[in-house]
Amino acid sequence: MKILVIGSGGREHALAWKLKDSPQTEKLYAIPGNPGMAAIAECVPHIVPTDNEAVVAFARENGIDLVVVGPEAPLAGGLVDALAAAGIKAFGPAKLAAEIEGSKAFSKDLMKKYGIPTAKYEVFSDAAAARAYVKAGGAPIVIKADGLAAGKGVVVAMTEEEALAAIDEIMEDKAFGKAGSRVVIEEFMAGEEVSILAFTDGRTIRAMVPSQDHKRAYDGDKGPNTGGMGAYAPAPVAPPALVEEVTRTILEPTIRAMEKEGRLYKGCLYAGLMVTEEGAKVVEFNCRFGDPETEVVLPLLKGDLVEIMLACVDGNLADVEIPWSTGAAVTVVLAAGGYPKTYEKGAEITGLADAEAEGCLVFHAGTAERDGKIVTAGGRVLNVVAEAADIKAAVEKAYRGVDRVHFKDAFCRRDIAHSALERMK
Ligand code: AMP
Ligand code: GLY
Repeated sequence: MKILVIGSGGREHALAWKLKDSPQTEKLYAIPGNPGMAAIAECVPHIVPTDNEAVVAFARENGIDLVVVGPEAPLAGGLVDALAAAGIKAFGPAKLAAEIEGSKAFSKDLMKKYGIPTAKYEVFSDAAAARAYVKAGGAPIVIKADGLAAGKGVVVAMTEEEALAAIDEIMEDKAFGKAGSRVVIEEFMAGEEVSILAFTDGRTIRAMVPSQDHKRAYDGDKGPNTGGMGAYAPAPVAPPALVEEVTRTILEPTIRAMEKEGRLYKGCLYAGLMVTEEGAKVVEFNCRFGDPETEVVLPLLKGDLVEIMLACVDGNLADVEIPWSTGAAVTVVLAAGGYPKTYEKGAEITGLADAEAEGCLVFHAGTAERDGKIVTAGGRVLNVVAEAADIKAAVEKAYRGVDRVHFKDAFCRRDIAHSALERMK
């Protein structure tokens, strides 16, 4: 089969790497891809992932059998619908189903209507009413811009002042543009977070191994929020019994609800969960694989990703086996100094082959090729991934790989998987 991956991050590199593993894969393409993906796929940098017409035309001209869409923007923009209309199979939700991520108000209303556990909330399009609600309820409280804000439109306010400032920033100063014309104000949930990604064909849903992201920039979960500084799987905060509970109380009811609403959901459903004293509750849904969670979940998948994805598209996931490794995987993100604020690009990266020689996988996120050299081209630059028998061994192996890679002003967190390691003590 000829397979086309849409996207250019670490998640897409991991997807391409796992798809390559399938005996069914003849040739891989990537739009636009990255220098890491270029080793296994033909990259097509001149097509923009959100240009549905151009992607469909490329898929037609090249006889693509399956398109795998990584990021949310093309999903929200109806790329899967456009491909389906052209008779091309695509893994990922259609536009109406992708709204589960694109609009927080939609997903919160859906959960309320169908009794899916989540924090209590109200939606406001009027800043004065939002302020009055905060003043009545007090802190801690959580303020979220309604639309897509690249994961940055959320303020967990520990004081009333912080909450009021967040409303001003989102609704009056329009810090996130149109995404802030409505805000969702939520009850604060105390607990530990876990990500459960799941494959679904719209009717059957199968959870992948649970993973945990590290969203803060610095050790000890300090500093600003980022796109994710590392991850590990399986996350012991979600033992198998909890994953089963989540499947029964959250994943299955959600896809049934989406079907009832006329938004049959196919692809990967990402449930961001808080494990509270009252059980797991939804923090957010994403309509795609998580990044960097994918970089640790897919190495543990021992099944055929092409077969699983085709079953999701064709509606026969119930017939497919999804075996998992009993081991663990860890990814450490190497970032450019200054990230998530301003950072330099163009620094030469060395030691990639040495990290691989330590037994690590290296998935590229923000890199470019210049004069035959790999240079930095983004805030999150690389994922160094290690698989081992348990989390502790995987952490040690990942940092051995990390220590072999060098570029100017590189930094990473040194405490990835700390919560799992503390539990193992
Ligand atoms: P979101 O973009 O909705 O995933 O929110 C970003 C982050 O804010 C989450 O990963 C949580 O760490 C935190 N968060 C969001 N909603 C809540 C909540 N209701 N209670 C506590 N923390 C939250
Ligand atoms: N790791 C968080 C996300 O993919 O949204």
